Parts: sequence; structure tokens; C-alpha cells
Amino acid sequence: MSYVLLTGGAGYIGSHTALALLNANEQVISFDNYHNSSSESLKRVQQLSGRSLIDIQGDVLDSQALAQVFEQYPIKAVIHFAALKAVGESTAKPLWYYENNVAGTINLCKVMSQYGVKKLVFSSSATVYGAAEQMPIHESAPRSATNPYGQSKLMIEHILADLHSSDPDWKIAVLRYFNPVGADASGMIGENPNGIPNNLMPFITQVAVGKRDKLQVFGSDYPTPDGTGVRDFIHVSDLARGHLAALGYLQQVQGIDYINLGTGQGYSVLEVIKSFSAVNQVDIPYVLTERRPGDIAQCYADPAKAAQLLKWTTEKTLEDMVRDSWNWQKNNPNGYN
Ligand code: NAD
Ligand code: WQD
Repeated sequence: MSYVLLTGGAGYIGSHTALALLNANEQVISFDNYHNSSSESLKRVQQLSGRSLIDIQGDVLDSQALAQVFEQYPIKAVIHFAALKAVGESTAKPLWYYENNVAGTINLCKVMSQYGVKKLVFSSSATVYGAAEQMPIHESAPRSATNPYGQSKLMIEHILADLHSSDPDWKIAVLRYFNPVGADASGMIGENPNGIPNNLMPFITQVAVGKRDKLQVFGSDYPTPDGTGVRDFIHVSDLARGHLAALGYLQQVQGIDYINLGTGQGYSVLEVIKSFSAVNQVDIPYVLTERRPGDIAQCYADPAKAAQLLKWTTEKTLEDMVRDSWNWQKNNPNGYN
């Protein structure tokens, strides 16, 4: 019996991936310091799947704690979700972000090397494309970053490329997620942001549940069909399946691959609000305000490479995303708290 180790497994994407892995009969270990999560998400994952996983509280900066996991359990691959992810916070606390995300990844790779585990799926982000000029965004587009969070993902992409060049035994899938939203259809697990949400969908659901008065739509003068920002929203359950596909792919090939995980379809902020209201029959009061500094007009993926290499495409629609986001929020007005 061998395990898939998920760093950051209790978080939003990690918990949905843990569920998908358990449902696919994989053995799962989560290693998370609970900085932005709690073990409640994993309790629910086990309830939903009817299977158990190994839930370890630990920090990827702690090499000894990581080594203990590899010492104790046979691990066949690692999916590395653990990271800090708030763009604004990263600008205020860059050293913390670089240490946690970059040094954390280096630590993890060193321990993996030491134990001869060389299959890695890494959570990268469409943020590494900066303000891409061509849509849809192909994996070969130029990379840049405008904030320390994005820089940390870019640095890790470079580090992993060098690691692979130094030792071709490494098999690495660098997955660049677009905008993950939604929740498991059960409504039992979902996104649980601390404080005021930075991202669009959790803000909308908090307005819907009455925690916030209204949504501010940041910018209505973008060169997009209705003037508001356009993004490639991807259902978190589709994203979770993408990780399974990536793990399968790593069993078959050598190398390092950079792969977009998106739908290929952009929706504007106003389209998301309208869909949310129509599907859920809930009004979302909003005001059009200034652009948010650092935002780009549009961002959507060319998903062809994922289809070709991973044999994976998204299945869920925008309607599924807004329905499942609301289902999670209304059943859990205070998240896991
Ligand atoms: P999340 O905050 O819900 O999950 C990250 C998890 O990592 C949390 O449970 C947190 O407690 C844990 N963690 C953080 N630092 C750690 C450390 N040093 N040691 C151990 N655990 C640690 O975020 P998420 O949305 O699930 O994101 C998962 C990954 O996907 C991250 O790497 C993130 O950068 C990336 N990503 C997220 C998005 C998004 O919009 N959600 C988009 C692109 C990429
Ligand atoms: C989407 C659209 C906003 C909130 C961020 C990170 C990126 C990645 C995904 C990790 C934009 C608008 C938002 C609000 C709004 N994360 N908006 N009112 O900025 O595309 O990407 O999350 O890797 O790195 O930057 O996502 O959900 O914040 O914004 O009008 O209250 O919604 O202006 O057009 P973004 P988002």
C-alpha cells in the first residue's frame, strides 16, 4: 500500500482533491499546519467518502516533521498545495510569503529526494502569466509577476525546472489553475476564507447570506464586452479531478510539464452575478466602483494541453459553480467555524 501525500490537504482545493482521491480508492495523507484551514474539512471528506485518511498537523518548513512522514509511510507521489495565497497580504509581508512558499517547496523537495520520492504535482497559478496580451493563454506565453505571491509561484516554477534538469528521474506536473470556485455538490466542504474575502465568488456568497451589504464591482471600463473583468472560473471539483489525471500522467512519462487547468471560457463579473441571482433566486446588490489596483482586464486559458496530455476536460458549467457555491455557503454560513 502506498500513499499520495497532500501538503495543504485541509485547504480549499486540497480537501476537494482528497475527496476525489479517496473516491478513486487512493490512500491519502494530508500534511497541513492549519494556518488557513482546520481538520474539520478533512473530517467531512472522510464522512463523504466513507473512507479514512491520515491527517497530520505539520509545517512544510519543518524538515524533520516532513521526514518523519516519509520515514513512517511509503509515499508514491506528492501534491504540493501548501502555500500562502493572498495577493494583497503578500505585498505587505513579502518575506513571509517567500519563506513559506519558496523555502517550503525547497524543503519538501529535499526531503522527497532524500527518500527517493520524485513524483510531484505542484499548484501553480495563472498569476504567472502576469498581464498576458493574447487570449486564450497558452502555456508558452511569457511569464511575469507583479506581486510577491505571483513571484513566489514563478520562482518555484524555475526551481522545479532546475531540479528536473539536475536529475531527470523527477516527474513533475506544474498545474496552473485559473479561478477556482464552487464546492462539492454535497454542500459539506467548500471555501472558507478568513475575514473579508478577496475573491469574487466568496464575496458574492457572503452578500447572499447577509454577511456583507453589497458587492463592489471593481472596474466597469475594461475593454471587455460589458466593461467588467473577465476570468476563467473553474469548478473546484473539476480541478480536483485534474489532479487525479496529473497523478496518472506522472506514472507514464518522464519530464516536467506545465499545464493550464481552466475551462477555456471567460465570464465577466456581471455575468457571474447575474447567473448567481438567476440560478439561486437570491438578489446580489452591487455597485460599480474603481478598478482594483493590479487587476487585469481578462484572463482565460487555452486548455488544449490538459486535454491532450491528461485526457482531462472540465464538465461543470457556470450554473453548477454558482449553485454549488451557494449550497455550501447557505448550509455553512460561518464556514467550518
Ligand atoms: P488554502 O489556503 O485553502 O489551502 C492551502 C493550505 O496550505 C491551507 O490549508 C494552509 O493551512 C496550508 N499551508 C500553508 N502554509 C503551510 C505550511 N507552511 N505548511 C503546511 N501547510 C501550510 O488555498 P487553496 O485555494 O486551497 O490553494 C491551494 C494551492 O493552490 C496554493 O498553492 C495556492 O497558491 C494555489 N492556487 C490557488 C488558487 C485559488 O484561487 N484558490 C489559484 C491558483 C493557485
Ligand atoms: C476576479 C474578478 C475582480 C472581488 C486571484 C489571484 C490569482 C489567483 C486567483 C491564486 C476581477 C473582480 C473581485 C470583488 C470584484 N489566486 N472582483 N469584486 O484577481 O482574477 O485572481 O485569485 O493563485 O493569483 O490574483 O480573482 O476572484 O479576486 O477577481 O469586482 O469583491 O472579480 O476585479 O475582475 P483574480 P478574484
